Amino acid sequence: MFLLWALPLALYLFYRWSIATYDYFEKRNVPYVKPVPFFGQVLSFFTQGRHAVDVASEGYRMFRNTRISGVFTLRTPAYLVHDPTLYKQMATKDFDHFTDHVTDFRIETDPILARSLFFTNGAHWRQHRSGLSPAFTGSKMRSMFGLLSKSAGDAMGRLLVFAAGKPFTMELRDLYSRLGNDVMTSISFGVEVDSLTDRDNEFFLKGKRLAQIDGLPGLKFLMATTIPRVFHFFRLSGMYKDVNEFYTDAVARNIQLRETNRINRPDFIHLLLQARKNTLGAEKHEDEALQDAGFSTVKEHTLEQKMGEGKMNWADIDIAGAAASFFFGGIETTTTLLCFTSYELAVNPDIQERLRAEIDEQRESLADGRTPTYEVLQKMKYLDMVVSEALRRWTPLGLTNRKCTKNYTFTNTDGSQVTIERGQNISIPLKYFHLDEKFYPDPLRFDPERFADPNNINQDAYVPFGAGLRNCIGSRLALMQAKCILFYMLSNFIIKPDTKLTIPIVIDETSAGLNAKHGFWMNLVPRSA
Ligand code: HEM
Repeated sequence: MFLLWALPLALYLFYRWSIATYDYFEKRNVPYVKPVPFFGQVLSFFTQGRHAVDVASEGYRMFRNTRISGVFTLRTPAYLVHDPTLYKQMATKDFDHFTDHVTDFRIETDPILARSLFFTNGAHWRQHRSGLSPAFTGSKMRSMFGLLSKSAGDAMGRLLVFAAGKPFTMELRDLYSRLGNDVMTSISFGVEVDSLTDRDNEFFLKGKRLAQIDGLPGLKFLMATTIPRVFHFFRLSGMYKDVNEFYTDAVARNIQLRETNRINRPDFIHLLLQARKNTLGAEKHEDEALQDAGFSTVKEHTLEQKMGEGKMNWADIDIAGAAASFFFGGIETTTTLLCFTSYELAVNPDIQERLRAEIDEQRESLADGRTPTYEVLQKMKYLDMVVSEALRRWTPLGLTNRKCTKNYTFTNTDGSQVTIERGQNISIPLKYFHLDEKFYPDPLRFDPERFADPNNINQDAYVPFGAGLRNCIGSRLALMQAKCILFYMLSNFIIKPDTKLTIPIVIDETSAGLNAKHGFWMNLVPRSA
């Protein structure tokens, strides 16, 4: 008898609770995507098989005449920015209102992720970012470039031996993530690995687990973002325990080895150890020319020190967190850039030939005719146009976010005032800015010519590395790494679509990142063949 009325009542109360927030945008006169009870917008991710970035950005194409719209993830309202100029403003001039990213990891349960730059917030983020910035200047990148180029060049040598002068088929996502992992392991830890041969080496396997944002880890990220209280109540963690232990141990051992043997190598651990001793600074006379790794490079802003904030004290575990964040933020994104650039080169052989001609011309000026230098890559205009267009057409990180840390009022297109309240989540659809015909005519066409004259590009609407003070710290490294690997690939191989490649490429809607459903299968033809 009790159950007869208690169950429906409980269900009814649950239903009322699940929709209690759904009048949030109505009350604020902000257009919003109508939510499904309890699920909000998330249901269509499961039922319609659409990519998470597209689900979260749905309002962008639905409401054309607004600077912002609303969306619900489960019960949680979030704003979606439609106007790239508004995003720029939030990220730079009005940064004080939006200092944080939304995902909240705790040091007790996620000792590494919670210490990595993307996930730190507030005063700790300021200290961390200003401590790390000097490690990413143009001159530091140039000193590191030798290690990067060696790692990529060695791998290319092994690929040529494997080819033995004959064409062969390869899945490029696998190839590039192995190359990316080897490069990052070398420039972060000073450890040389060869993931093409030693396919199950620990750095590669742990790096893969670290960067995994699909499946269970993806679900946990979603929980940490949308229902942080539940996430923390159950003491859940975003990262696997063995990965935490691996990076913590690897860094501690590495530091000890260097200190005992006085090893001095121009890599990240070395720079972070300098930061610990307060000897890492930007060069007194930073060479302006070295800052530019291409059109897409983002500016590093100077963070003013706030009263009583002090400098970052780099414990070993903080160094592990920083190094892990380079793996986490850098490998999948750079791999995605390389995969889609290679895809476009394979299906547009005229673009590939023109790029190869530019590479061959530069090779003539190299001492060994083979190994690119930082300066040579900087000079290559067409390479830069191709990479810039690939970052636009196939934005590796299609969505970023901010948390509102101080109420913020702005004027919407209809003249009404919108106030974003402290604590609200904001999504920024980078991909949708890049694919908006308002900014890029015929946006789905891959056309490097768009970047022939950078003055024709709306700078606010070109944001592959985000914008403002919390933009990507690794843009220079990513560009140099991608350009270096493309240089080697096109010097040695002609990239052709394999019969297993789907054209046009089919995107894997279930992947949290940007990926091809059926892989990037290419036929690599050695140029000597
Ligand atoms: C093509 C490659 C890459 C792309 C497209 C990319 C894109 C991005 C984007 C869009 C953001 C968020 C910016 C924002 O919220 O405004 C970001 C942040 C970040 N990226 Fe990258 N990234 C790439 C490579 C790298 C590399 C190589 C590293 C490290 C060495 C790196 C480290 C980071 C870190 C640590 C952050 C967080 C910065 C902060 O919160 O202060 N990224 N990246």
